[in-house]
Amino acid sequence: MMLHIPEVLSAAQVNEMRAALDATDWVDGRETVGAQGAQVKRNRQLPEQSPVTAQLGGLVLAALARSTLFFSAALPLRFVPPLFNRYEGGEHYGLHVDGSVRRTGAGQQLRTDLSCTLFLAEPEDYDGGELEVVDTYGVHEVKLPAGDLILYPASSLHRVTPVTRGARVCSFFWLQSMVRDNAQRAMLFELDQTIQKLRARLGESEETVALTGQYHNLLRMWSEV
Ligand code: NI
Repeated sequence: MMLHIPEVLSAAQVNEMRAALDATDWVDGRETVGAQGAQVKRNRQLPEQSPVTAQLGGLVLAALARSTLFFSAALPLRFVPPLFNRYEGGEHYGLHVDGSVRRTGAGQQLRTDLSCTLFLAEPEDYDGGELEVVDTYGVHEVKLPAGDLILYPASSLHRVTPVTRGARVCSFFWLQSMVRDNAQRAMLFELDQTIQKLRARLGESEETVALTGQYHNLLRMWSEV
C-alpha cells in the first residue's frame, strides 16, 4: 500500500528547514549505499553524522508523531534517523530496492518495512525528480507539494527520474513497523479508518466499541511488540 500523507510540515517549517539545508555542505550520496546502489545513485546527501542532519531529522520525527493518519498506516515501531538528499543538474537514482536491514546511529539494527519520502521543494520549482514506484498495479509517479510525505513498502522497486531544472530536496528514511506483513497492515489501516468514520457519525456506539475491540485483537495477534 502506498499512502500520501498531506501537510506533515507547515509552510513555515518547510521554509525553516530549507534555510538550514541550503546553507550547509552536501556529500556524494553514494557514501550511504552498497556496491549495487552506488552504480545507479547520482545525488547528494547531508552527511549522516552532521549535527544539521540530527537536528532536522528530529523535527521530521516530531512532526510525524503528531500525525494520526501516519501512525494508523505505518504502525511504526522503530525509525532509521531521517536523512536528506538533493538532486539537481541531471542527477537521478536508477531502479533499485532499498536494503532490507539498516543500522541506526546507535548501532541498533532494524528491518526496513516501509520507506518514506518527505518533499521539501515545491513541484513547480524543479522539472523531473519524480519518485517512480513499481508494484503489481504498475508504475506510480509521485511528486508532492513541499511538506507532504509518501509512505510505500520498502520492498518496492523504485527510482528517481533526472532533475533537469531547479533542485529536488527531500528527507528520506525507513521504519520497522509493529506489523511486518503489508497485507495485514493494510487491513488494520482500513479497519481503523472505518472505526474513525463510524465514531464521527455515531460516537461510542456498541458498533464502534465492538469494532475497536476487533482492531486491537488483530493488532495483538499480528504485532511484534
Ligand atoms: Ni531507494
